[in-house]
Amino acid sequence: MQVTMTVNGTEVTRDVEPRILLVHYLRESLGLTGTHWGCDTSNCGTCVVLVDGEPVKSCTQLAAMTAGHEVTTVEGMADGATLDPVQQGFMEEHGLQCGFCTPGMMLTARALLDRNPDPAEDEIREAISGQICRCTGYATIVRSVQWAAAHPAAEGTTASEVPA
Ligand code: FES
Ligand code: FES
Repeated sequence: MQVTMTVNGTEVTRDVEPRILLVHYLRESLGLTGTHWGCDTSNCGTCVVLVDGEPVKSCTQLAAMTAGHEVTTVEGMADGATLDPVQQGFMEEHGLQCGFCTPGMMLTARALLDRNPDPAEDEIREAISGQICRCTGYATIVRSVQWAAAHPAAEGTTASEVPA
């Protein structure tokens, strides 16, 4: 079946199997491999993307169900070469170790800050409570989101300046 949706600001149409999950559609049909797939049980949350601005586990939704909607993946967070403040916050506060959970964590943080620009720590922890990080202990993730809240305007760090 043909499915059309807007992904990172661009309308895309693809022939897809009706049963394909959004996570596999993004990764395999569109090559957006920043959306990770970490479990078969809908528990890990590493597959989170934004659908119409709301965090959604993309392994729980069919691509066909997303037709007509707007999807944002981690590849769509930066404004050209300028990082989203959330991305910069994760860099400033070392909000990642292996990085596997990071795209979903950052997108959830983006959605949180869009609706609540100055969240309390417990609100940040509640927002990311559906996502598992096996590395950081969450403290640096929380600090990264707090950094982004304190620096809502992009500070000019470009992707090319991010340490490899
Ligand atoms: S891949 Fe684990 S919740 Fe989606
Ligand atoms: S940084 Fe490794 S799972 Fe979160």
